[in-house]
Amino acid sequence: MTRVALAFSGGLDTTVCVPLLEEEYGYDDVIGVTVDVGQPAEEFDEAEETADALGLEHYVVDARAEFAQLCLEGVRANATYQGYPLGTALARPVIANAILEVALENDCDALAHGCTGKGNDQLRFEAVWRSSDLEVCAPVRELGLTREWELEYAAERDLPVDGGNDGAWSIDTNLWSRSVEGDELEDPNYVPPADIYEWTQDPTGETEEIVIGFEDGYPVSVDGEELEPVALIEHLNELAGSYGVGRTDSMEDRMLGLKVRENYEHPAATTLLNAHEALEGLVLTQEEREFKQLIDQRWSKKGYEGLIDAPLVRALEGFIAETQTRVTGTVTIRFEGGQARAVARDSEYAAYSAAHASFDTETVGDITQEDATGVAKYHGFQRRLANNVIDREDETVSLATDGGDD
Ligand code: ARG
Repeated sequence: MTRVALAFSGGLDTTVCVPLLEEEYGYDDVIGVTVDVGQPAEEFDEAEETADALGLEHYVVDARAEFAQLCLEGVRANATYQGYPLGTALARPVIANAILEVALENDCDALAHGCTGKGNDQLRFEAVWRSSDLEVCAPVRELGLTREWELEYAAERDLPVDGGNDGAWSIDTNLWSRSVEGDELEDPNYVPPADIYEWTQDPTGETEEIVIGFEDGYPVSVDGEELEPVALIEHLNELAGSYGVGRTDSMEDRMLGLKVRENYEHPAATTLLNAHEALEGLVLTQEEREFKQLIDQRWSKKGYEGLIDAPLVRALEGFIAETQTRVTGTVTIRFEGGQARAVARDSEYAAYSAAHASFDTETVGDITQEDATGVAKYHGFQRRLANNVIDREDETVSLATDGGDD
């Protein structure tokens, strides 16, 4: 008796995978696993109904809390890839691990997904699965299936494929972002119609300010009310989305090298990332901020690749954790014109002295304005030398000839 656990959404790809895994791959038994990372309720209904109609043993795993926590690690790392806050990317290892666990509990011999051979998700799933001893099957990729072939096959077999997610766009939704791609959007010069957006409204001209509280770089409250990660993200998606915050339309460079037109909505992510960066601006030193950009960029890249448990990431997180001990305080965000802009920030760890920075003070402690004169004389010194602005013939050099301190 051989058994395979399939990452199951109830959409066309994973639905046709069920009979194919039995007929083409020869497994006796298929179980479907749907992992909850904050998809809309209809998607679970669809998965449930389709599983029922297929007679598929179906498991649903709630991984929202774990996924939300990972998204907030992304906030500490200011994580974006080409403007995209990595919703799909960060969800994949969480989903893959949850499916692996169900597979092991149910004595499965293999794992399967319905990803194509063109995208990133096949790589992200398999990076997790191939560290187990189970077989990995990718029917859509391995059998070279196209959407057209799948539709025909489903019609022939009378498979239940008329659920919710079968519109023109290919959509992937979770707590952190909603992605829309495919069909006319594949033309980079095609202007997206308004109906691709579900989380964001066009800005109306109204504005609102909220205060986000951070502890150790993690957002923990909105307007003084403490919220768990899932609730915090859901709340901000709704609120910031109503002001049109967090739309991205980009040409994304996928891991295989393909460029793909992507549209995303991510109101909470944009709000939290902007707020977090504003607070870092107040508390971190210039050199920490500059160096952390390199760390953050690497973290984001590993996040995009679905390799969030790589040793490098743990090392990067060591640096991040050290810097975040001071990223505690509040940031006021104003929603305005489709933007979430930081308009005020406050922290007991501010690396800031109003007295030193102010135009209104002349001397603070033992530092006076005039002390900058020496600095100004040296600033750009080598540039003047190199550009021959200094006439060396006229230079009078005085060297100590006697004594010295040796
Ligand atoms: N390109 C994005 C990524 O690789 C998201 C793809 C989401 N899938 C979709 N069917 N819209 O992370």
